Amino acid sequence: VPQQPRTGAWLVGARGSVATTTILGAAALRAGLAGPSGLVTELPDFAPAGLVPVDDLVFGGHDPSPSSLLKRAENLVAGGVVPAQLVASLHDELVTVDREVRPGIAAGPAGRPDRAVIDELAGDIGEFRDRHRLDRVVVVNVASTEAPVQERAEHRSWAELSRALDAGSRDLLPASSLYAVAAIEAGCAYADFTPSPGGRLPAVQQLAYERGLPYAGSDAKTGETLVKSVLAPMFAMRALRVRSWAGLNLLGGGDGATLADAEVAQSKLTSKSQALTAVLGGGVTAPMHIDYVPNLGDWKTAWDHISFEGFLGVPMTLQFTWQGCDSALAAPLVLDLVRLLARAHEIGKFGALEELSFFFKDPVGTDEHRLSAQWEALRRLAADFSEPAPVSEAG
Ligand SMILES: NC(=O)c1ccc[n+]([C@@H]2O[C@H](COP(=O)([O-])OP(=O)(O)OC[C@H]3O[C@@H](n4cnc5c(N)ncnc54)[C@H](O)[C@@H]3O)[C@@H](O)[C@H]2O)c1
Repeated sequence: VPQQPRTGAWLVGARGSVATTTILGAAALRAGLAGPSGLVTELPDFAPAGLVPVDDLVFGGHDPSPSSLLKRAENLVAGGVVPAQLVASLHDELVTVDREVRPGIAAGPAGRPDRAVIDELAGDIGEFRDRHRLDRVVVVNVASTEAPVQERAEHRSWAELSRALDAGSRDLLPASSLYAVAAIEAGCAYADFTPSPGGRLPAVQQLAYERGLPYAGSDAKTGETLVKSVLAPMFAMRALRVRSWAGLNLLGGGDGATLADAEVAQSKLTSKSQALTAVLGGGVTAPMHIDYVPNLGDWKTAWDHISFEGFLGVPMTLQFTWQGCDSALAAPLVLDLVRLLARAHEIGKFGALEELSFFFKDPVGTDEHRLSAQWEALRRLAADFSEPAPVSEAG
């Protein structure tokens, strides 16, 4: 019987709510304590795609937080996200994974040359791979969102950026991009679940391409934007003219606290605005707000008010309210991305995986935001995975 390749999932932000729910969820599935609800890659379309079973994933990650996975899991229990019994049953698994978490690097000036930081981060991932004899590792950034950066023109190509790093530059790259470079230099597929600069910089994407590695991003689509990417195409297809689409988002939890900073929130607002503009054009008035409401914890509320007009200019309105549990929506998608990127890496697919646009608010490699078109692209990818193109013989 051929051995299943061994796959690691390295989460940047490993002690956050999304990461903890991901790790807990994978352990719960393995123990038969939870079902696959919310896990796209468990749908029948993906059965022949040769994806690594969730049960076989090995977890590790970076997080400068001195807290522990167990503590975060207990917070999730207190917030009503996961049952206490589940955390009690999986206590040992959480403690084991917590030993695989390294401090990494906090956001903000590191005070050390970027090159040294990258080598250290890549070293942590390499040691994890060796320790567990993994065939490949997928790195997913689920750390706190960072503010946008002004990209410097002279570092647009990897060759230029690399020269600056070798010359001892400090604080040239934000932490999320140091992690992305480290992941790629460690030979890993990479996904950016956040709207941080991370792997978006053209020089970093060029590095992934040159190293023959697949990457995907940015900013997972789990709530309001998911609904928008279904409804906006409906208005477009029915020739109903959307006049305005206002969105109010109320968020608690760590993500809400991070986004209370106006500069950081700009990263999120920019990626959230992509879908409407792409599907309906730029003529729609679309104000959007994110407010931090601590007592909501992991539950986010989005209220959208859409005014549109029909035949003879008759004005009409659609309103919707989405009340989702952030981490429960996000965690299965992290597992989906790890499985899909691991398979892409295995069969030699590389560069921007635009077929994963289904999962993102601001997808790399494509302007396609309509969920149904994104779903078809994902299904085609699954079919490619089932019958990968033969690799031509060297020489
Ligand atoms: N939950 C969702 O539906 C959803 C959807 C899209 C994007 N996201 C993004 O996922 C990310 C995580 O969300 P969350 O709710 O788990 O947030 P969280 O605040 O609970 O967790 C973030 C974790 O990142 C860690 N961290 C901060 N800076 C770090 C650094 N430099 N290196 C490594 N780790 C670092 C923190 O210590 C914390 O443990 C956020 O950026 C959020 O915007 C979440």
